[in-house]
Amino acid sequence: MRKILRITLKTFGVILVILIVSGLLGWWYVSSQFLNFEDDYTEKEEIPKLTIDGYTFLDRNENGVLDVYEDDRVSIADRVEDLLSQMTLEEKIHILKGSGMASGIGMVDPEEGIPGVVGTIVATPRLGMPALNLSDGPAGLRIEPTREGIDRTFYCTAFPIATLLASTWNTDLAYKVGDAMGNEALEYGIDVILGPGANIHRHPFCGRNFEYYSEDPLVTGKIGAAMVNGIESNGIGTSVKHFVANNQETNRNFNDTRVSDRAMREIYLKGFEIIVEDAQPWTIMSSYNKVNGTHTAESKHLLTDVLRDDWGFEGLVMSDWFGGSDAVAMVNAGNDLLEPGTKKQWDALTKGHDEGTLNMDAVDTSVKRILTLIFKSQKMKGYKYSENPDLKAHAEITRKSASEGIVLLKNEATLPLEKGKNVALIGVYSYDFIAGGTGSGDVNEAYTVSLEEGLANTGFSINQKAKDAYHEHKTANPEAFVKPEGMSAMFNPYLPTEMTYNAAMMQDIVAESDLAIITIGRNSGEGGDRVATDDFLLSDKEKDILQVTCKAFHAANKKVIVVLNIGGVLETASWKDQPDAIVLAWQGGQEGGNAVADILSGQVNPSGKLTVTFPVEVEDHASNVNFPQNGLPMKMTDLLFGKDDIPEDKMEENVDFTEYEEGVYVGYRHFDKANLDVSYPFGYGMSYTNFEYGEMELVHENDSLKITVPVMNTGQVSGKEVVQFYISKDSTQIDRPVQELKAFAKTVLLSSGETDTLRVHVPVKNLRYWNESSLQWTLESGTYKIKAGASSRAIKKAVQVKI
Ligand code: BGC
Repeated sequence: MRKILRITLKTFGVILVILIVSGLLGWWYVSSQFLNFEDDYTEKEEIPKLTIDGYTFLDRNENGVLDVYEDDRVSIADRVEDLLSQMTLEEKIHILKGSGMASGIGMVDPEEGIPGVVGTIVATPRLGMPALNLSDGPAGLRIEPTREGIDRTFYCTAFPIATLLASTWNTDLAYKVGDAMGNEALEYGIDVILGPGANIHRHPFCGRNFEYYSEDPLVTGKIGAAMVNGIESNGIGTSVKHFVANNQETNRNFNDTRVSDRAMREIYLKGFEIIVEDAQPWTIMSSYNKVNGTHTAESKHLLTDVLRDDWGFEGLVMSDWFGGSDAVAMVNAGNDLLEPGTKKQWDALTKGHDEGTLNMDAVDTSVKRILTLIFKSQKMKGYKYSENPDLKAHAEITRKSASEGIVLLKNEATLPLEKGKNVALIGVYSYDFIAGGTGSGDVNEAYTVSLEEGLANTGFSINQKAKDAYHEHKTANPEAFVKPEGMSAMFNPYLPTEMTYNAAMMQDIVAESDLAIITIGRNSGEGGDRVATDDFLLSDKEKDILQVTCKAFHAANKKVIVVLNIGGVLETASWKDQPDAIVLAWQGGQEGGNAVADILSGQVNPSGKLTVTFPVEVEDHASNVNFPQNGLPMKMTDLLFGKDDIPEDKMEENVDFTEYEEGVYVGYRHFDKANLDVSYPFGYGMSYTNFEYGEMELVHENDSLKITVPVMNTGQVSGKEVVQFYISKDSTQIDRPVQELKAFAKTVLLSSGETDTLRVHVPVKNLRYWNESSLQWTLESGTYKIKAGASSRAIKKAVQVKI
């Protein structure tokens, strides 16, 4: 017996030692390859600087040459050329990749780096070039809020998610949000914000849709450009991501997007193209996926032919984190910077040079682009950051932008509410409001205002019975309310279990309150797509809550409002008849609860409109047949180590490719063409007032269509109206959508009886389609209809023009 025990203990001991040793070895490997890796780069001695007549030079007296270095009177291009000529091969390869991801997971001494910074552009001390810090985006700056040994916090503002921001259709407001976000980067010592996201909502299940603006490329481009311009007005760079056709999270590092040229140009590339044209961002981030067989990060066609040669993009392209698989192919294709940088990439680039596969012209071009960015940075200019951005002022901006993007979907003589009413808050999310999605798009904010707090702040009383029921549920299910933290929070959305209400409990609540608000919450993010059950569709519990609440409150002649605190579209057609009002609050950032209360109380008249269609059923989307439905989460090992090619017979279950069979028929382009009913159409949103559209005028002048339309507030309260301009071509030789958005504008706040005449320009070139036989933009001549609509399905005025 003793012997058996001894052998067992010994075996356990050996296993334990093996486990510990392999764990340590594994950690050492990951750390040395991906976190803080040594890339054999040897630092050379710093060249001293000289100042003569106010100009700064690198001291190269030994050659008798003085070269410009750091002076605004000398163009950046000249300084870059000069520096490049001084760089060794090793220095050039060194600067092409970041230094690993240690600080991104908090593994950095706060004296030496900023915890939460996910990537860097490395320093070249010999030439006086500093390191730059790259941090996420896009709903706010993402850095660690606390630092070891430092007795203060470093919170950032959680602004509304991108889809909400786009729903404002207000480019000035998007600029202001960008400006505030950029200012936080500036004051916290961050040089480039990794955002905004400009991917298209191809399907409602994409887990990252909340980081993206719309199913339409024009909205994406215009709001995205405003955001870039706002952030960059601080001298901070942006990285517009994820370039391109990255519309799902399932197998995101290896999925091949199989898509037509026309759909690429007209839908998936278009938003990026508009951003380049209107904002010329400092950087663009290539995506994880492949497009038609090639990783975007290795595609010369996309990164050089389209982005640089066709569009004139002047900035640099960085990879998504650990994206691409062949470092040499990436640099050769025009992916200038490899982030966050790995030991494997350093080795591959060095080997590529030795073997002659690394194109040294491409290396020089990429290094020049990186040096240019460093010269433009505030770091290079020696900006002393305060670490104290004005978070109070930014809270005001986020609240204002959140309320402007909230969409009123339904209102049957219910809203706005009179202040002072006693509100029964139903469902856990009323008390636990969701500020934004998860993953790298999450923000470390100081607080999130819940709907409960927002209503209380605005002068409503909160029904105690309903609140007690919530607290009882919470106490009885503590494990369901544990918020994931650290890395776990990155990939596991916090979704506390919903509660159940029985009829008797509801009767008590009705008796003591004036109305009910049910909040339905959803959350998703990086690394996983959504699914139909209990996500796109309401769960059984939610259906019950709706039914029990509506029955009890309606029997007492009291109203029920549904607030949707969601990051992506959900099914509404089957239940929208039940409540009296539906408010699409999206995820409004840290001031979300206050923003919803502003709308409910009428302090702000809703003026948000949908930038995505709410379909009757998800199957109505043309993309649905080819969208992965299993919601399988991403594998960390795939991300870090890559994965082997999948055998043919296993392709399907591994979702190795996604066929974009629907071509350009994404969102309303499909629903209109297929003549399908929708639950809420693209561009839809209600107001507490009414608007009338006057005569629309169009002048065709200098290759541009100049359109005006007066909009009058004919209701009782002040409000803003978003007008959308769609073009149609009824008689056409090609297959084209029924209508396409070509411009939009928003009125100023109009008081009752007031009129604002909106003016937009549509360049005639924007009426072209991508001709797949000639591989170029082509204008079809003939008659076009230009329509002004309150939504894609509420056209108010139309004019015709012959081109
Ligand atoms: C995401 C990017 C993000 C990067 C750095 C990646 O996993 O796809 O959007 O900017 O990580 O956090």
